[in-house]
Amino acid sequence: MSTLADPLDLAAKAFWAQHPDVRDEAFARMRAEKPVFWSGPAESDLLPPEENVNGFWSLTKHADIQFASRNPKIFSSAQGITMEDFSPEMTEIAQSFIAMDAPRHTQLRGITMDAFKPGNMRKLESWVRGHARDLIDEMAHLGSGDFVELVAEPMPGRIFGSFFGLKPEHHQETIRAAQDLLSWTDPDVTGGVEPLEHFANCVMTLRLTAAELAEERRADPGEDLMTWLVEAEWEGERMTDDEIGAFFVLLAVAANDTTRHASAGAVHAFTRFADQRALLVEDVEGRGEGAVEEVLRYVSPLLHMRRTAIQDVEVRGQQIKAGDKVVLWYCSGNRDEEVFDHPYDLDILRDNRRHQAFGGGGPHFCLGNAVARTTLKSLLSEIYTRIPDISAPEPDFLVANFINGIKHLPATWTPEAR
Ligand code: HEM
Repeated sequence: MSTLADPLDLAAKAFWAQHPDVRDEAFARMRAEKPVFWSGPAESDLLPPEENVNGFWSLTKHADIQFASRNPKIFSSAQGITMEDFSPEMTEIAQSFIAMDAPRHTQLRGITMDAFKPGNMRKLESWVRGHARDLIDEMAHLGSGDFVELVAEPMPGRIFGSFFGLKPEHHQETIRAAQDLLSWTDPDVTGGVEPLEHFANCVMTLRLTAAELAEERRADPGEDLMTWLVEAEWEGERMTDDEIGAFFVLLAVAANDTTRHASAGAVHAFTRFADQRALLVEDVEGRGEGAVEEVLRYVSPLLHMRRTAIQDVEVRGQQIKAGDKVVLWYCSGNRDEEVFDHPYDLDILRDNRRHQAFGGGGPHFCLGNAVARTTLKSLLSEIYTRIPDISAPEPDFLVANFINGIKHLPATWTPEAR
């Protein structure tokens, strides 16, 4: 990995290997000095150098991220959603409607949206809480261990498995692929496999599972999301097998990785801000929801999404041309001093309704936000009632420019008596 000659070089892999606090300082400088910031092509593992020629604009202010998110006729999602470019084939098979514009986006999101409506989410609450309780039951007596391995990783995996009705023989391989897919930048995760091959392997594992599940549910419907997907119609149209496969990949990744890193980030944050942990422990049920929102703001589990300008536009006096890539940095919007007082502090009592962890609003706003919120609330409730002194000061951070991740989180706590 190259060393970082310029501290604001977002395109360099070395930038993303730095501690998140150092990255925060760079974003603070951009917000203050050059909030619409130009970078050269992102150092890429996925495209050969001759094809990796596009630089990108960064939006670092909360208001600009909101503006771009809510104006899809200017800022398109259809040409890719990451600062690094993927080949169009990869985008098609792996990203589903998150990388589409209306009308196709509206149609496919519409087919799936009912499954995520608040009434259904309320039904989920009790079994999500059950999964959280089971996991804490399994680890509370230990007194120490890697929080990622014990809780953060299995929790979203179990929820996703039940949601889709995954069979036990598929479960482990599918969840592993979902959780590793976005980590092509970290050699510890790819284990020596070329990044593009790693990415393609994960996608193929997920698509094969989806194809098998879809066939089974057509023949023998159940009460899971796959049954919903094979049966759902939107304006007389059903999803094709290819569309179901791509949606399965999108959801597997969107649901697993983000929630995993949000919960590990929460335990780390409450270790750093012991006063906030004390406030939460004092009234876990009453302060749990505020704590979840603040953790989402503070951690920003998804660092960015990208758009592409499809017409010339001016943002804060900076001309952006049609065809330019524009990256929306949620991690920076969530630290914008104009919106949040003392943005670097965790403060579970603050008014944090405007955080951008689920995006800046608009048509792509996170479809699974209610599932994520319910999962995090259940986990925080179980953890901070049963093992309230859990402490995890030294995370091993993932090297990645898309996910704000923690690979391992060694933790200690007073063991619960059995
Ligand atoms: C802490 C957890 C999560 C975070 C931080 C998160 C964040 C995000 C963000 C930032 C976006 C893009 C918003 C935009 O481009 O405007 C997004 C989209 C999406 N998320 Fe989440 N997400 C989380 C959990 C989940 C879960 C649990 C699911 C599913 C069960 C999910 C499903 C989706 C889907 C399907 C989209 C694409 C929506 C569209 O393009 O219309 N997410 N999420």
